[in-house]
Amino acid sequence: MQPFSVDIFSQRRKQLLDAIGEDGIAIFTSPPERKRSNDTSYPFRPSSDIVYLSGFEEANTVLVFAPGSEDGDFIMFVNKRDPLKETWDGRRYGPEGAKDPFGADAAFTIEEFKEKLPQYFYKREALYFTRDGHVWDDFILDKLTQLRFGRDGKSGPRVLIDGREIVHDMRLRKSEDEIAVMRKSAKIASQAHELAMRHTHPGMMEFEIQAIIENHFHKNGAPFPAYTSIVGGGDNATILHYIENRSELQSGDVLLIDAGCEYHYYASDITRSFPVSGKFSAAQRDVYEAVLEVEINTINAAKVGQPYGAIHNMARDGIIDALHQLKILKESKEEILEKELFKKYYPHRSGHYLGMDVHDVGAYSERDGSWKTLQAGMVITVEPGLYFPAHDTDLPEEIRGLGIRIEDDILITDKGPENLTASCPKSVADLEAIIGSKS
Ligand code: GLY
Ligand code: MN
Ligand code: MN
Repeated sequence: MQPFSVDIFSQRRKQLLDAIGEDGIAIFTSPPERKRSNDTSYPFRPSSDIVYLSGFEEANTVLVFAPGSEDGDFIMFVNKRDPLKETWDGRRYGPEGAKDPFGADAAFTIEEFKEKLPQYFYKREALYFTRDGHVWDDFILDKLTQLRFGRDGKSGPRVLIDGREIVHDMRLRKSEDEIAVMRKSAKIASQAHELAMRHTHPGMMEFEIQAIIENHFHKNGAPFPAYTSIVGGGDNATILHYIENRSELQSGDVLLIDAGCEYHYYASDITRSFPVSGKFSAAQRDVYEAVLEVEINTINAAKVGQPYGAIHNMARDGIIDALHQLKILKESKEEILEKELFKKYYPHRSGHYLGMDVHDVGAYSERDGSWKTLQAGMVITVEPGLYFPAHDTDLPEEIRGLGIRIEDDILITDKGPENLTASCPKSVADLEAIIGSKS
């Protein structure tokens, strides 16, 4: 079920059709279900582009945009109805059921795609398509080759264009309707983090915290985390994408939680780092406050017209100042930059686009190689961090085995940055007042 009206999907499709023009054809595919082990499958999650353009959520789907074809401009290929399979695995729309609700000019079974594809290719100039790593890639490109170089006197597109560019540029700036859904996704995730803070106490397992967070997602209609939840105490927090979540939380350690939900296909992405015992040590607190200052300054700089690279640099420079202040790096700023010494403790950038995918689509650079500038409607994360592994004997002992990352989701507006996850506690005073208050 989609939170958007059918008109929104048809406006998006019109924008795509206008962009590819009468001589173009665009094809988007969603994969079949993927086997997990023996006869179980991974939970299916459709391609974001397909959902964005149609709202259709079933596996094994192809959308064809072929302006002026004899079947119309927008043609869907979907799984056929199959009473036996539906009894076991769930309902399907089938072509007859999908055509009208999803606004297609025509709909056929996915098997029919194989025989019908060449007719959409005839006399067209450009194919907008991108290999997506699954079963339809080779079929589509092989068909194109057969048609163009075959001997039956038919022609097909000579130009292959990355099919993602048009749609991903559309997805980069979110509409009001999308922003409303993202606000909700951000709110559910903020509440989940706060709940985790309230329940945290020494002796709990990381997976218990994960369960509290993901239970809150499910209870609020977000069926999946937007990525595997990262719940790492102590040294585990220095592994950027730690997902084992199987250790016991120790008093004296800081717990890093990076978790967000997917609500109606829109991701949230929040990181909070806080002391398991409820109180930072003096050394932990110094590191925490330094990262927090960098995060807040970087959020405040996320204004319309700023090149994305300037945001990355702002966070990086703040982190270098923090490493100086904490007396962890003593070299000059020039030397730190030239030798990228900061990367030992801050190996990532300031953040990324956020939307239907957690690392959302859209170009980061213009065609001339310059950074894209921030525009109203974009949503980005700001997530500086410092990671001090337990095995690094160059570091003062009291901060070894400490990872701090603080991450919020920021909507770029003409009036300045708006923090969608502002309700998630992050000041030292708020954290220390909340942690463990329910245990
Ligand atoms: N949760 C992945 C990231 O923050 O990029
Ligand atoms: Mn994250
Ligand atoms: Mn992120």
